[in-house]
Amino acid sequence: MVMRRKIVAGNWKMNGSKDLSEKLVGYVRTEAGSLDNGVEVVIIPPAIYIRDVVGQAGGAVSVGVQNVGQWQSGAYTGEISSEMAKDSGCDYVLVGHSERRQIFGETDELVAEKVALVVASGLTAIVCVGETLEERESGSAESVVESQVRQGLSAVSGAWKNVVVAYEPVWAIGTGKTATAEDAQAMHASIRTVLKEMGAPAEEISLLYGGSVKADNAAALFAEPDIDGGLIGGASLVAEEFISICRYFP
Ligand code: G3P
Repeated sequence: MVMRRKIVAGNWKMNGSKDLSEKLVGYVRTEAGSLDNGVEVVIIPPAIYIRDVVGQAGGAVSVGVQNVGQWQSGAYTGEISSEMAKDSGCDYVLVGHSERRQIFGETDELVAEKVALVVASGLTAIVCVGETLEERESGSAESVVESQVRQGLSAVSGAWKNVVVAYEPVWAIGTGKTATAEDAQAMHASIRTVLKEMGAPAEEISLLYGGSVKADNAAALFAEPDIDGGLIGGASLVAEEFISICRYFP
């Protein structure tokens, strides 16, 4: 039985405040200490709150950043780098979230550039992949995801221990529609096969599912053999529900 990191990460997106950060992280920190299922809890707030969250997390919860630029420093007003994220206490960086791809036009090539910088900084890249509804309905979901995995991870250069893949079908994000546990498992198994073909230690790479994960569907998803955790949006803003999700690991 291969031991993979079990991770539940809360992506706050552009939500939250100093007040929420104080209350939610305080609660999650206390409850995370009593989890006995080996789950690593990660909070990914808007970058401006990272220092607050790192301070409030007190090491009991890991912290991530939602995006970094494709440079480490320089005249790029408004951008932050993976080196800065590391310097501020982050362990994780989300790369290629579908909102970045769809709203900000991020391509697989850009994702690959960012992943290379993130892993070179010694942080873990949570690389997001997932098909649209149209792609699922036309039967191309697996090939779309395969291509995102192959291209997005093309510049990892052996630093596989710094890579986590999050499968987030676009049609399930913030819609209340979740992939069935069986469909999510099938896609995760296919991603693991692709990773193997790429020469990665696929059995050691954690694969997270994201897309309308809630307290009432987490248990079924997390029971699947290739689902190693979740990337949670809306439900990560409600402290009790977020912690309930963390408890649903077998
Ligand atoms: O990154 C998390 C995500 O996109 C899923 O969001 O609100 O459907 O859980 P949500």
